[in-house]
Order: sequence, then C-alpha cells, then structure tokens
Amino acid sequence: MRFNGKTVVVTGAASGIGRATTIAFAAEGAMVYAADIDEAGLQQTASASNGKVVSALCDVTRTEDIKALMDRAAAETGGIDCVFNNAGAGGDRAPIDEIEPNGWDRTMDLLLRSVAFGIRYAVPHMIGRKGASFVNTSSVAAVGPGYSPTAYAVAKAGVLHLTKVAAADLAKHQIRVNAVQPGFINTNIFTSSLEMPAELEAQAKGAIAAMSQQAQPVARGGQPDDIAQAVLFLASEAAGFVTGTSLIVDGGITIGPRHSWDPTMPGLFDALQQMAESGKAA
Ligand SMILES: NC(=O)c1ccc[n+]([C@@H]2O[C@H](COP(=O)([O-])OP(=O)(O)OC[C@H]3O[C@@H](n4cnc5c(N)ncnc54)[C@H](O)[C@@H]3O)[C@@H](O)[C@H]2O)c1
Repeated sequence: MRFNGKTVVVTGAASGIGRATTIAFAAEGAMVYAADIDEAGLQQTASASNGKVVSALCDVTRTEDIKALMDRAAAETGGIDCVFNNAGAGGDRAPIDEIEPNGWDRTMDLLLRSVAFGIRYAVPHMIGRKGASFVNTSSVAAVGPGYSPTAYAVAKAGVLHLTKVAAADLAKHQIRVNAVQPGFINTNIFTSSLEMPAELEAQAKGAIAAMSQQAQPVARGGQPDDIAQAVLFLASEAAGFVTGTSLIVDGGITIGPRHSWDPTMPGLFDALQQMAESGKAA
C-alpha cells in the first residue's frame, strides 16, 4: 500500500495505460482522480478498480479543463501528491512535407501543451506535500524516427525535454518530475482514430495483438500494466532520488537493429560469413 492517503491525478484514464495505472494506484491505497473525455470508459475504469476512483471529465487540450481538474482534486482531498500526464492519441499522420499547420498544432496541444499545463496547474496544490512528483508519458518514438508519425514523435521528444527542465524548475519545491517511454503496448491507440465498422476494428485489434507478440526481444506483447508498474515505481518513495529522467519500458524494442536480437533475421556479419563459406565451397 505505497500510496495510502495520497491523492493522484491520472489523465487518459478511460483506456489502456491510463486505466491500468489508475487501477494500480487505487489498489495501493491512493484516491485517484481519473480524467478523460470518454465518460463511458471512465465508468469502466472505476468499476474495474477495487479502490477509490473519482471520474472527472477533462479535455486536456483545454487548459481551463486541466485547471478545473487540479483545483477540484485538491479542494476535495486537501492537495495533490502525484500527477500522471498520460492522455494521448496518434495525432496527425502526415509526413513533414505534407503536414498542415492545423494538424501539427492539434498534435502538439494534445501531447505536449497538455503536459506543460498538467504540471503548471497542479504545482500550487503539490507544494509542501512530501514525496510529490509528476510522471509524464513520452514514447520510444522520442528515440528516433520509425516508431510513429512525425508530429507525434516530435511532441513525445518534447515531453522528454519538458520533463528535464520542469525537474530543474521544481527542485526548489522538492517536486520530482520523470517520464516513462512505453514501447509497443497493446491498447486502443492504434485503432481509436480510425473510422471503421466494428467487425473490421476487431480484426485490426487481433492483428495488432499478434504483431505485438513478436515486435521486441522479450517474447510477449507489451501490456498496459507493464507501464503502470513503472509509473508507480517512479511515483513512489523508492524513486526519491530519481528526477529529470525517463524510464524506457519497451521489452527491448529500442536496443538495436532487429537482426541483433532476432535469430530469424540475418545481419551484415551473417551475410558476410555466408559469402565467405560459399566462396570456400566453390
Ligand atoms: N500504446 C502504445 O504502444 C504507446 C506507446 C508509447 C506511448 N504511448 C502513449 O501512452 C499514452 C496512453 O495511450 P494508450 O496506449 O493507453 O492509448 P488509449 O487509446 O488506450 O488511451 C488513451 C486515452 O486518452 C484519452 N484522450 C484522448 N484525447 C484526450 C483529450 N483531449 N483529453 C483527455 N483524454 C484524452 C482517450 O479517450 C483514451 O482514454 C498516450 O500518451 C500515448 O501516446 C502509447
């Protein structure tokens, strides 16, 4: 019960990583303010939890919503101990030579500006709370190209940098700020922005689940609870000396080119060896 008596705010709590983290915090004693734009999803999160979960409608692209969320959580409980700035979606899919200003701005507002103001409006309620901290959801997409659309990757890299500068700004209040970088995690994010009939969506989800089993060296698909456990560690007393950093939780997807860990994918040295052997045989 690491979070007994603590108040935690989780955004994007109606699904996937946010839902799993809400459930995990509540199971360890926290009072969790679960925020999202999806009311039905929030209800499912609350009913799947065996702890205290308060549903709060909040669109994180609206700064007034974020402020109201933080003010409410603090007014009802006396303050805030942890905020998990996590809400998100895939954003605009266009490459840099096609993207339009509107799509770029919407993606930045959802994924980066939301985190800045999730911090901005919670801090006044966290000052003086022992062990207070933020955890922000970045992504392996911040490591380099190839994991996501362009605007998303840039926003998630921004979340990493924001995490560092915010950790420096907030050290004076002894508030820690860290990020988590999920790899390929089996959630609705891959299909939620696509409009398709239910049957096709179920098929797409099945294909994604199958793909996620083999996408990384750890031989199983990444699950929302893999990220939730990392978030709880970063928010806990055990991470009291950890700030301004980021924890990659990706089953090893970023450790190197695929041939370096997948025995079914020959790399350069295997190809050269084969050439040498075929030369010897000739
Ligand atoms: N699933 C992955 O593979 C993966 C990898 C790296 C990072 N992430 C990040 O993890 C976070 C959670 O994503 P997920 O995979 O759980 O996806 P998800 O689709 O299951 O959950 C995202 C939640 O965010 C909510 N949301 C979307 N826009 C919102 C808004 N304007 N205001 C409030 N809530 C909003 C959605 O309603 C949904 O409940 C996101 O920031 C995502 O970018 C996911």
